[in-house]
Amino acid sequence: MQGEFSGNIHLLNSQEDLLRLFRESSAAYSKIAILTDENTRDHCLPLLGNVPGTNISIPAGEENKNIGSAEKIWGELLAAGFDRNSLLINMGGGMITDLGGFAASVFKRGIDFIHVPTSLTAQIDAAIGGKTGINFEEVKNQVGTFAWPEKVLVFPDFLKSLPHRELKSGFAEAMKHAIISDPAYWEFLKTFDLTTANKEFLNLIDKSIQIKMEIVEKDPMEKKERKMLNFGHSIGHAIESFLQPGLLHGEAVAAGMICEAYISSKILDFPLSALEDIVCQVNKRFHKVSWENHQTDRIINKVYHDKKNKNGKLLFSLIEDIGSCIVEQEVGIDLIHESFRFYQNKGSC
Ligand code: GLY
Repeated sequence: MQGEFSGNIHLLNSQEDLLRLFRESSAAYSKIAILTDENTRDHCLPLLGNVPGTNISIPAGEENKNIGSAEKIWGELLAAGFDRNSLLINMGGGMITDLGGFAASVFKRGIDFIHVPTSLTAQIDAAIGGKTGINFEEVKNQVGTFAWPEKVLVFPDFLKSLPHRELKSGFAEAMKHAIISDPAYWEFLKTFDLTTANKEFLNLIDKSIQIKMEIVEKDPMEKKERKMLNFGHSIGHAIESFLQPGLLHGEAVAAGMICEAYISSKILDFPLSALEDIVCQVNKRFHKVSWENHQTDRIINKVYHDKKNKNGKLLFSLIEDIGSCIVEQEVGIDLIHESFRFYQNKGSC
């Protein structure tokens, strides 16, 4: 892929290419460590054969993307005598690439890292674009850095070992990419066969990475345009943080996209037919996320922690049509409540 940051992303067709790039990328370092979770340690790491280095594995699950896990990584790197010319390889879903990227980006003021994303969410979103982070005090990604991996090795075959629910969760990010910037991609996704990790996933991954990187290249540090990639996430992250553990990122974002599309229809005249279309497509793919009415205020309180907000104002990325997103739109609390009622009452199409 072209571009200052996109050039280090490699979409790989074969295990031979993965092994070759992996060997080339890790050859020059004093020491290497591989970070996995329990699932990727058992199902993905064996594909790399015998990797000389330190294996660090942490329990799977978003609830482990925390400072305790970062401390465990730093502790193991220190114990194994890692110097600044060391490499951390992050092999896993978004939880591992966010956590490992963060741990590497501050260890000894920063060591190199490579991402080997193994979930769809990580292959099209979390490992792409140079964001790292951990959750703090039950709020998503409150502590983190912008830090660029030396390489991102995207191997779609890893998706074959991914549970279907995880595959669907990643699909929500592809839907987001289409909604914010590409009506033709949206049409493509409507009929996409999500039942198994088939060959079409290569096209989906390629398209989503292209869309994301075009936006990131314009605004790597998220001063303006990059905020588009947060459509569905102001509310999605709040729902996800509140309903942890148990809810997957994409499941929360899917709910967030319906709420934020509804808010867009009120603030930016997002067409009602397009709103129906989003509701229909999301409900076709995802179960409705539910919570008790009395919990709504506590979820909305979490929206106040969103990193896009300024001076106490809630600022959302909203859509004026499929393929057109506008950032920094102020949203009032009553409209957020209304959008939650819309989400909870809106049935399938
Ligand atoms: N996941 C949103 C971004 O990387 O900007």
